[in-house]
Amino acid sequence: MKLFNPGGERGSAMSYATLLEKIEIMRSTLRWATRLERPDVEKLLRQANGLRDEVMQLSHKTRFVEAVSGDVERRTGEAPVPEPLAGERRRALLARSFVFEGTFGDNPKLLDALEIAEKAAPTDLPVLVDGESGTGKELMAKVIHANGARADKPYISVNCGAIPDSLLESELFGHKKGAFTGAVNDRKGKFESAHKGTIFLDEIGELPLPGQVKLLRVLQSHEIQRVGSDETIAVDARIVAATNKNLRKLIDQGTFREDLFYRLSVIHVTLPPLRERSDEIPLLLAYYGDEAAEALKRPPLAMTARLRDFLLRYAYPGNIRELRNILYRLACLAGDTADLSHLPEDIRPAAPATAAPPALDGALGAAPLSLAEAKRLASDEAERHCLERGLQEVGGTVAELARRWDMNRSHLQILLRKHGLHSKDFRKTH
Ligand SMILES: Nc1ncnc2c1ncn2[C@@H]1O[C@H](COP(=O)(O)OP(=O)(O)OP(=O)(O)O)[C@@H](O)[C@H]1O
Ligand SMILES: [Mg+2]
Repeated sequence: MKLFNPGGERGSAMSYATLLEKIEIMRSTLRWATRLERPDVEKLLRQANGLRDEVMQLSHKTRFVEAVSGDVERRTGEAPVPEPLAGERRRALLARSFVFEGTFGDNPKLLDALEIAEKAAPTDLPVLVDGESGTGKELMAKVIHANGARADKPYISVNCGAIPDSLLESELFGHKKGAFTGAVNDRKGKFESAHKGTIFLDEIGELPLPGQVKLLRVLQSHEIQRVGSDETIAVDARIVAATNKNLRKLIDQGTFREDLFYRLSVIHVTLPPLRERSDEIPLLLAYYGDEAAEALKRPPLAMTARLRDFLLRYAYPGNIRELRNILYRLACLAGDTADLSHLPEDIRPAAPATAAPPALDGALGAAPLSLAEAKRLASDEAERHCLERGLQEVGGTVAELARRWDMNRSHLQILLRKHGLHSKDFRKTH
């Protein structure tokens, strides 16, 4: 991977080597530690954060070099590069050390969004992220911040929908002591706190019109005035805004200013809803199932076939947040094995069938399947049955199954994880 082999650039190669050395020191500290007390953990965390920052600085440098050499190729009129496939695009992002921790998926629309974010991150241009609730807008804002030159500066998040109108100006721009009843001290606003860093204006569509006018003024002048003060203060905050509303519709309705929209959406990123990337549900189920079990200190989450079928086909109106919440709920409420009865009541199918329904019958209030989804589900279903039967035959010994099927053991483990199968559930008890 590029990270450790930066194309023979001496400066970077030496820095990467230094980084590797530091990582090795950390690894050996951990390897020989018999017991870690909280202060040791804090220290290791600080070291890990420092290493992450250094990796990011290096990755910015590498990306900059790549962007420049790309420009040179374009200017010299070399033949256009053919469009890469989804898997390659994701690998290419990783190889360029673009940090998008916690963002999964190979869906072309998600990759489009990540690629736009990658290009926007090193600039100071305002970014507008839109998408339905729970599609990862805040995560995307953090990705943009983490990959920009301001990564080590503050990231301040403001929920524009949660501030009462009367407090809005003071929240955003601060106030002077005595400016209004209750203003007992001078107070910095969010913009000042975000100076040199990034301000994330969440739910921007909820900002009332007077607030929009004030925000527009700041965007134009890069200056603020605390409430009750005449003094102007220069602020340099990179703006990322997010909305789950259709701002163009709000503009037509007269509740959102068109000029503000154009100011905020110099770069526009749209995140796809989960139902348009349902091929990634198995991966998300495996990831959040493990995360929930670990967070709740429970054994890995096992689920019945019919629950799994439901989760694969459910439409997730609340998108990834809903999927994550469901898995935390299952991990918390289920005993050994989660079933349909552990689902939240409002999404639980009314009369669960006793036998596992065939995966393609379109029941359980699921989204309609496309042909490609139907094929994938059928193939997933067959794969899982085969794995279950195989594990039963070998009494849960993965190494034996891998040998019988002439398969790489780690690949087999990945498949088991994908289907939420645990070899120990197939061990024979006497
Ligand atoms: N591509 C992804 N891969 C994995 N997890 C994701 C992805 N996108 C979002 N998530 C997770 O889904 C949850 C919701 O994400 P986030 O809070 O960023 O959504 P949002 O669009 O801001 O939602 P809302 O509109 O409700 O505020 C978080 O736990 C986040 O980590
Ligand atoms: Mg959000």
